[in-house]
Amino acid sequence: MSQKQSSHDATRRILIEPTSSQATQLAADMFGTIVCDAVDKRGICHVALAGGTTPHGLYQLLAKSGNIDLLPWDLVEVFLGDERDVPQDHVESNFGMIQRTLLDHVPINLSRVHPMGADADDIAQAAADYERAIRDTVPAGDDGIPQFDLILLGMGGDGHTASLFPGSEALDVSDRLVVSCFVQVLGRSRMTLTFPLINAARNIIQLVTGGDKAEAIADLLSGAEDDKARLPVARIKPVAGKLLTILDEPAARLADLKKD
Ligand code: 6PG
Repeated sequence: MSQKQSSHDATRRILIEPTSSQATQLAADMFGTIVCDAVDKRGICHVALAGGTTPHGLYQLLAKSGNIDLLPWDLVEVFLGDERDVPQDHVESNFGMIQRTLLDHVPINLSRVHPMGADADDIAQAAADYERAIRDTVPAGDDGIPQFDLILLGMGGDGHTASLFPGSEALDVSDRLVVSCFVQVLGRSRMTLTFPLINAARNIIQLVTGGDKAEAIADLLSGAEDDKARLPVARIKPVAGKLLTILDEPAARLADLKKD
């Protein structure tokens, strides 16, 4: 597996693979390592999974027989990073996608699977309920914020991540871990984890592939400060954990990265 590594700072590693399938394989390998390490150390692994299309291949890889036997799925607790305001069986549902590509194929303990339910009539209350479920399930770090072992994130071409979109009031939330918000550019509501919760994670994996993400990645990793400041994804800064950014070459092609 050929990969160009460019370490960005102490907490962030950037790994670039030639193709999206190689980047996806690397993400699957890292996912497995983090799950096994968490279970070895604490007897359970708390993850929050990304939606969108990029992680499809990752979830399908994880659902392949070799990985099913390899990983302690019954000790994995699954939350979502964000969700659309649609029922779980809707084609746009992140949970529905994760269920079809991964959860239906691995021996997960269904009592440890937490859909967001962002189609609730009162989505704000549903967000508060989801936060309560996270607080009741995921042990907190020293700062009192639940500490996920792994939060998997994608990134949109506008630099959004989870459902934290440019201009959203959710970007500046500091006193809640899960919020609902109306996303102007979509004309729809979303539910999303907030930066305080995301940045409390032990491990964050950003999996970003495709040339359509190249401009945002270039701004994020090598752009001027004010270009970077426009991007919600630039606010992903783990407080004490590790941030691994996995790219394919098309997504990295405009970034000026110094190699290790
Ligand atoms: C969602 C995702 C979102 C996603 C980006 C990238 O609900 O859509 O959680 O944050 O990661 O939009 O989406 P793609 O992977 O489809 O490019």
